Amino acid sequence: MKKNIKGVILAGGTGSRLFPITKVFSKQLLPVYNKPMILLSLGLMVSIGIEEILIIVTKRDLILFKRLLGNGKEYNCKITYKVQLKPAGIAQAITLAKSHFTSNKILLMLGDNFLFGSNLKNVILDAMSSAKGASIFTYKVKSPERYGVLNIKNNKIKNIVEKPKKPTSNKAIPGIYIYDQKSINYVKNLKPSNRGELEITDLNNLYLKKNDLEIFHLGDGIIWMDMGTFDSYLEASQFIAATEKRQGFEIYDFKKNEV
Ligand code: TTP
Repeated sequence: MKKNIKGVILAGGTGSRLFPITKVFSKQLLPVYNKPMILLSLGLMVSIGIEEILIIVTKRDLILFKRLLGNGKEYNCKITYKVQLKPAGIAQAITLAKSHFTSNKILLMLGDNFLFGSNLKNVILDAMSSAKGASIFTYKVKSPERYGVLNIKNNKIKNIVEKPKKPTSNKAIPGIYIYDQKSINYVKNLKPSNRGELEITDLNNLYLKKNDLEIFHLGDGIIWMDMGTFDSYLEASQFIAATEKRQGFEIYDFKKNEV
């Protein structure tokens, strides 16, 4: 277990693709079958042995997240919170988590992503011990246009392209990333994109350019879903319900003291 790596979960944002559902509270509080969405990313972090987790939330919903998660005791971890005043981009999480960095790396996860499956824990643990400054993951999808995607030419990774119209590979980048402390300075120099956000893809491209990025593949037997659209939200709920009913266990079950 990499006990000294701290976790950061991004649970801010606008959630505009789920309007009007998310007009009054954050997407990550919505029920996904039998638990609030955020417990899925929290469950994964706790399952790989992360003990300290910072949750980034909107000012409006800080009180709700605190009511649900408290100091984390009930969830076998220590939780602290940081407010993101505006949804200025995923990469801003690095700046907000600055004091959370120790001498080690951080594991950053998007609070609307669902990852589960055999060998997942081992791949993440491998990525956490990578000698490179940052690690990201890839996952094969049929329609990569919605995601950051590896741009591959002549069998070489050129860069990562955010929401490409014509993807050159089917390898999308899930919302789970590992960064060392250099990321704090890198993010300071990032310029907001056309949509006015500090893009995590720009940060990843910077590490790639410096040959300081390791990419791990999440293969068969692992499920990755983002829950940011009506359909993907419904599909995640259905997947979890079907798996749990069929196999008679609860995915990321905190009551059992083991997730
Ligand atoms: P997105 O799905 O990119 O953005 P969003 O949640 O605001 O949704 P929409 O595009 O429908 O308006 O965000 C991915 C995750 O990152 C999600 O859990 C919210 C979180 N996030 C933040 O915490 N802060 C931010 O500034 C952004 C952009 C996202």
